[in-house]
Amino acid sequence: MRIETPREFERFGAMLVYGLQKIYQLDGGLAGVAASPQNGDRVIQQIPYEQLHEIEKQMAIIVPVRNERLKLVQGVLCGIPNPCLTIVISNSQRTPIDRFAIEQDSIANFSRFLQNDIVVIHQKDPLLGNAFAKGGYPEIIDDSNRVRDGKAEGMIAGIMLAKLAGKKYVGFIDSDNYFPGAVLEYIHEFAAGFATSKSKNTMVRIAWHSKPKVLESGLYFAKWGRASTHTNRVLNDLLSHYSGFETEIMKTGNAGEHALSVDLAMQMCFASGYAVETQQIIALMERFGGVIGDLDARIIRDRVEVYQIESRNPHLHEVKGDDHVDDMIQSSLSVIYHSALTPERIKTDILETLRSKGTVGPRQEPPQQQTYPPLARIKLRSFKAALKKHDRLNTLLGA
Ligand code: GDP
Ligand code: CO
Repeated sequence: MRIETPREFERFGAMLVYGLQKIYQLDGGLAGVAASPQNGDRVIQQIPYEQLHEIEKQMAIIVPVRNERLKLVQGVLCGIPNPCLTIVISNSQRTPIDRFAIEQDSIANFSRFLQNDIVVIHQKDPLLGNAFAKGGYPEIIDDSNRVRDGKAEGMIAGIMLAKLAGKKYVGFIDSDNYFPGAVLEYIHEFAAGFATSKSKNTMVRIAWHSKPKVLESGLYFAKWGRASTHTNRVLNDLLSHYSGFETEIMKTGNAGEHALSVDLAMQMCFASGYAVETQQIIALMERFGGVIGDLDARIIRDRVEVYQIESRNPHLHEVKGDDHVDDMIQSSLSVIYHSALTPERIKTDILETLRSKGTVGPRQEPPQQQTYPPLARIKLRSFKAALKKHDRLNTLLGA
């Protein structure tokens, strides 16, 4: 891969946010043939093929699924590079039709062609719920001892499985992507971000180059979604508030496609629902920013680096109606609204935005989003012991 060196960054305490990086070549060649003039001036970095491969070997890819079409899921699985460990967390229906059983069969069959084990687990698997209970993390389970609904909850379960499998990195890829080639690209970009990072606490977020839409009789390649426009504007405003310099650095406030070093993932507080991606940025700012509480020497040494990479493939996923764009704006902005970091001026701006959309009434405040405590609190040994009985997790737990 040949990727632009970030031209700018913003520092917020011990958190570094790098500017958007463009991709110049998806396959940048082998290490041995790296000696091109471009590597000398470092405007463009070559991340050799071997290095991507080494990182992908240490990466788990979590694919959250809820009642998606099997053809789409299969396309996504086909795009995941061979060295990665694939973990499918499904919350698909079990009655009246057991869609999960059909998924499981189809994925098992597919993985025979790949000669790769794909881990498939249902979010409501009683053993999974029990593992969280035994590990001392009851917040994520409901009255019947099962993991709660939601993509974020599926992501959390996925992170724990990646941790048990001994992986160093964890990436998330939605299962409703139409282009297997885009999936492959995102994962190489995750690896490229980790390859350039100097910190063990790293996050890589993908900004889509474009999102094709049918407009009249042609295709139109839109650059920014409606939700991201709002989220990015407010996040940038928040960064600018503290630095005193206006910035537009943040471009990935709602990035569903992202990856984290497992060490960092274990320290994060995840929000439920659509708030999860924005909450990650806010959580990092709260923890590493030094505005709330003091920055101890360890945090300064273990600074966090956030990379934002612009993918080349257009992003096309299943159309699920526009209704939830407003939901997404509301949950993303609510997270920012309720952060102790956010000054009155920005809170007023958020209220105006949400009230003008009619999602928050004139005298209402946006609802507080539920957030989960850091996963580092989970007693790993008890969590793992509770999953030992699972007959489909042998390879993962044996690792
Ligand atoms: P959007 O892409 O933001 O519009 O949201 P989607 O509805 O496409 O959801 C993103 C991904 O999460 C898709 O792959 C869904 O199948 C998956 N997903 C949605 N809800 C759940 C859930 O409750 N559990 C799990 N495991 N996955 C979910
Ligand atoms: Co989607």
